[in-house]
Amino acid sequence: MEKDTFYITTPIYYPSDKLHIGHTYCTVATDTLARYHRLKGEDVMFLTGTDEHGQKIEQKADEAGVTPQEFVDRIVEGPRGVRDLWKLMNISNDRFIRTTDDYHVKAIQRIFKRMYDKGDIYKGTYKGKYCTPCESFWTESQLKDGCCPDCGRPVVDAEEEAYFFRLSKYADRIRDLLENTDFLQPRSRVNEMVKNFIDPGLEDLCVSRTSFSWGIPMDFDPKHVVYVWVDALSNYITALGYENDRYNDYKKYWPGINIVGKEIVRFHSIIWPAMLMSLGEPLPKHVFGHGWLLLDGGKMSKSKGNVVDPYLLAEQFGVDALRFFLMRTFPFGSDGNFSNELLIQTINIDLANDLGNLVSRTTAMVEKYFGGTLPTERQEGEPDTELRTMASTLRDRYEAEMERFQFQNALEQVFKTIQRANKYIDENAPWTLAKDPANRARL
Ligand code: ME8
Repeated sequence: MEKDTFYITTPIYYPSDKLHIGHTYCTVATDTLARYHRLKGEDVMFLTGTDEHGQKIEQKADEAGVTPQEFVDRIVEGPRGVRDLWKLMNISNDRFIRTTDDYHVKAIQRIFKRMYDKGDIYKGTYKGKYCTPCESFWTESQLKDGCCPDCGRPVVDAEEEAYFFRLSKYADRIRDLLENTDFLQPRSRVNEMVKNFIDPGLEDLCVSRTSFSWGIPMDFDPKHVVYVWVDALSNYITALGYENDRYNDYKKYWPGINIVGKEIVRFHSIIWPAMLMSLGEPLPKHVFGHGWLLLDGGKMSKSKGNVVDPYLLAEQFGVDALRFFLMRTFPFGSDGNFSNELLIQTINIDLANDLGNLVSRTTAMVEKYFGGTLPTERQEGEPDTELRTMASTLRDRYEAEMERFQFQNALEQVFKTIQRANKYIDENAPWTLAKDPANRARL
């Protein structure tokens, strides 16, 4: 029988700086889903990668006195770079895409041309506001106190001859997708998108730039480079071989699930489906917008510089403990405050006290009373029923939570069972049973 396929992706991160615990959080969560679906016997494709073009990278490279390509190579492939980090964190990705990869560059040129030939991309003049750190164009009405609504920093005036994507043409279909399907999750993100972006009216999107050169040149008008978000979003399909020969499993794996942070839900739930509609391709099964890890109540971010280094944490606490902490502590759809105290507390309570204690006393008693083997003569007792029921229904409860991307709840189910098992040992006091040979079967 053919296995079901399951395709899951992380955002492709900007290699403008070293990645931090926020990126690690998203990648570990996606890895957790990939591993879970492999355990269920599915044929999984798990993609991550890096988003390497754009003005911000060009500027960073300039400051560092190297070419943009050298700059991104170092952050992606260099020591303690992106690839090293995912190796360290035990990330089981099947593929890694860099948007500077040759096959991706050619595929983007074809994708752009297809949308142009369809009449969905046209030439015009761009006038507006641009936030350089976020690589985002904004209209006057979208600004917050005259600044970028995402990061709060100043924006600059921008005017240039540019190509536009007819996003407005897809407004009704996007509204329908958001409001009437479970495409965007968690549901709480839908209202935000509709209220902030669809209701005010979707404007056509500027999808080419001439003010800098670090991007994918349009092959039919090479002084323009393709807007970095069109380049980046397409990674989810070019990495499967869409419009290129490097891979050949687009038909097999697409559509998949895109896991992204909440600040880029706008791109993934409006622009991305509109691009796919224009290309006549299937839409993602879901886009899931997870919350942020906060530090002292504010978002941790590369550009703010208030980041926590996953290397240091992994060295100090161990990779598995760190992964466990991230999945156990924060509800995936909401923001959560990161702190070392919380990390230590979770490791102590869950791993050392609850799980560690259960394993160590169980194995110690099996060793002490039965020489390390499990005897076949057993007598069931009344207190067994509850624990038995809990254990036998655990898988269903766990799976139900995993299907909803609720890692924290899935682990909560597991740890409730572990806690119940510890209590069971206390209630049955094997050390007392062991004193009387008549209790041997029960012991
Ligand atoms: O946005 N808490 O790349 P990026 C939780 N290249 N997650 C966080 C986080 C935090 N404090 N900070 C970052 C980009 N993340 C684009 C994406 S996709 C086609 C292009 C995670 O390097 C979160 O998943 O800024 C967020 O969406 C992503 O890193 C942004 O990474």
